[in-house]
Amino acid sequence: MTKRVVVLAGDGIGPEIIAEAVKVLNVLQQRAGLAIHTEAALVGGAAIDVTGYPLPKETLDLAQKADAVLLGAVGGYQWEHLDIRIRPEKGLLGLRAGLDLFANLRPVVLFPQLRHASTLKAKVVAGLDILIVRELIGGIYFGQPRGIRTLANGERQGYNTLVYSESEIERVAHVAFALAQKRSKRLCSVDKANVLEATELWREVVTRVGKDYPDVSLSHLYVDNAAMQLVRAPKQFDVMLTTNLFGDILSDLASMLSGSIGMLPSASLDKNNKGLYEPIHGSAPDIAGQNKANPLATILSVAMMLRHSLNEAAMADQIEQAVSDVLSQGIRTADICQAGETPVSTSAMGDAVVAALAAGLE
Ligand code: IPM
Ligand code: MG
Repeated sequence: MTKRVVVLAGDGIGPEIIAEAVKVLNVLQQRAGLAIHTEAALVGGAAIDVTGYPLPKETLDLAQKADAVLLGAVGGYQWEHLDIRIRPEKGLLGLRAGLDLFANLRPVVLFPQLRHASTLKAKVVAGLDILIVRELIGGIYFGQPRGIRTLANGERQGYNTLVYSESEIERVAHVAFALAQKRSKRLCSVDKANVLEATELWREVVTRVGKDYPDVSLSHLYVDNAAMQLVRAPKQFDVMLTTNLFGDILSDLASMLSGSIGMLPSASLDKNNKGLYEPIHGSAPDIAGQNKANPLATILSVAMMLRHSLNEAAMADQIEQAVSDVLSQGIRTADICQAGETPVSTSAMGDAVVAALAAGLE
């Protein structure tokens, strides 16, 4: 049956990296029998410019009816002055919430060809393979009340609320434990239980859920220590389970272990594995329109989409192999170049992946 994929390019480098991901999908449609129907729609600043809203109803409706959503990135300087409730980022947050995508999977894998691209020593990162499972539609990102208020003395005060209910913790913990079971059976849950009650409950509930997974060894770290350990000895980790905010921060940190944030894909899943797929990086307005962004995180997000939502695991493997082949050929965008290497453009990188993929399909 033909599956429906909604493609949301968004802002900044979004359209450039999405164009390369679409080339990859096209090859699979033409050469490997991938049965999908793609539709493009507006989100983020691009949607604000046309409709006044970062998440037009039409886009949310399309996304809700689709089997999967592929997204580039949102945000840019020109929208930063807008009220926070209608900024581009709200389009992405609205999609995540509107599709009930509570589990965000962020694999941090170092391709061996890039072990010298990391700012950390090669021996510290060689062989790295971590999976961050980030809670995505709760916590301080969505907690009420929130806002900026004026106190009696006339001073303004900003406030946000960190809330987690037991059911919110349980459902994402189950996802993380089930994934850990399929990997090396180690799960590290990250919290700040020594200071924040919401994460004291987090630790308690994760421990309780762990009783259902006796073969998984569970550990807990405070987030400050987890950040330090990720840089000191990252290979100690297999699956890491985090709150929304801690996962946002730690996944950016962890991305540098893999050489570049331009390499890391993500999947955001609901309880039925319907998902939204996007690179973990942002819209990089400083290099937008210059054809120099790394499209590999988005192309690897397509692989995750095929595996998790479209039931095409073999095609996912083929994309990952094609990316690996291209890196073996020494093809590099600027973010993963070493001294003496010449960077290729976004589109040249996409073409190289398409060529390697097509060769693999013959
Ligand atoms: C991410 C991004 C988003 C987030 C922004 C763009 C809202 O940083 O996906 O990590 O904070 O979740
Ligand atoms: Mg982030």
